[in-house]
Amino acid sequence: MKEKYIFVLLLSFIFVTACNQTKNEESTQTLESLAEKEQFVLDEKKVIEVKFEQAFEPDPEPEPEPEPEPEPEPEPEPEPEPEPKPKPDPKPNNNDEIEISEQEKSATNISAIDEETGLYIVSNPNSIQVYVNKNRRLPVGHVPSDLVEPDVPHTKPKGDERRQLRVEAATALEDLFSAALEEEGLELAAISGYRSNSMQASIYQGHVKRSGQDFANRYSARPGTSEHETGLTMDVSAAVVGFALEEAFKGTAEGTWISDHAHLHGFIVRYPEGKEHITGYGYEPWHLRYVGQELAEHCNRQVK
Ligand code: DAL
Ligand code: ZN
Repeated sequence: MKEKYIFVLLLSFIFVTACNQTKNEESTQTLESLAEKEQFVLDEKKVIEVKFEQAFEPDPEPEPEPEPEPEPEPEPEPEPEPEPKPKPDPKPNNNDEIEISEQEKSATNISAIDEETGLYIVSNPNSIQVYVNKNRRLPVGHVPSDLVEPDVPHTKPKGDERRQLRVEAATALEDLFSAALEEEGLELAAISGYRSNSMQASIYQGHVKRSGQDFANRYSARPGTSEHETGLTMDVSAAVVGFALEEAFKGTAEGTWISDHAHLHGFIVRYPEGKEHITGYGYEPWHLRYVGQELAEHCNRQVK
């Protein structure tokens, strides 16, 4: 019986020990799995927190827009060069190459020869038909005695000698301008009329300085030889060409009208196109010389 009791006791001990062992193992496993679970939960939480943080993280400060590079200041446009006026073909300025008419060769109305220059000196400087050119000059000191200011639009300021013409030419100019206005509504302007010898000298020298001797000799008379000094010539122009004395005047309504009607009022376009070999000067559609109606009509027939 005693052995039986010992055996049962032993069995009980083994059973209890075994149970404890299992319990301990279970408990250990449960802890492990709990720890694992917790770790997972922690990890999950961490992930969620990170996501949360990210979700509510204020937007990163936007990168400041780069300041736009300031546009470089454009280089100031250079002042446009004035359009060079087409220079007329060089033509001979040598007086030997100018055709001299028979009338001129006969040297009518000549009082003397200028010893210094060899030019003829005209004997009739007060005639309406006085003839001056590159070979024929006015007497030294000649000043017309009947200069007046025609009642027409002028571009020169009051008091400027170039507003004047001799009285007969002044009246004819008024008639010419009135006819242009009444017949066609064209407004002409007086640009440059009488010039004293010193004024002509200064104008001629100005051309030499600005454009050279050859150009000056084609478009400007040496002092003593200009028709402007006779008080019988007026350069005319119009607003449409800025009152310029340029070949462009020819193509304007005013220039065309002048070319067609000047002779009816005693004026001629003294330096016509294509006649440089005769006149010695380039084409000047603006230069009107008063010669009286009869001679003007005669000259007009010759030229046209
Ligand atoms: N322009 C003309 C030629 C003069 O000067 O008289
Ligand atoms: Zn002129």
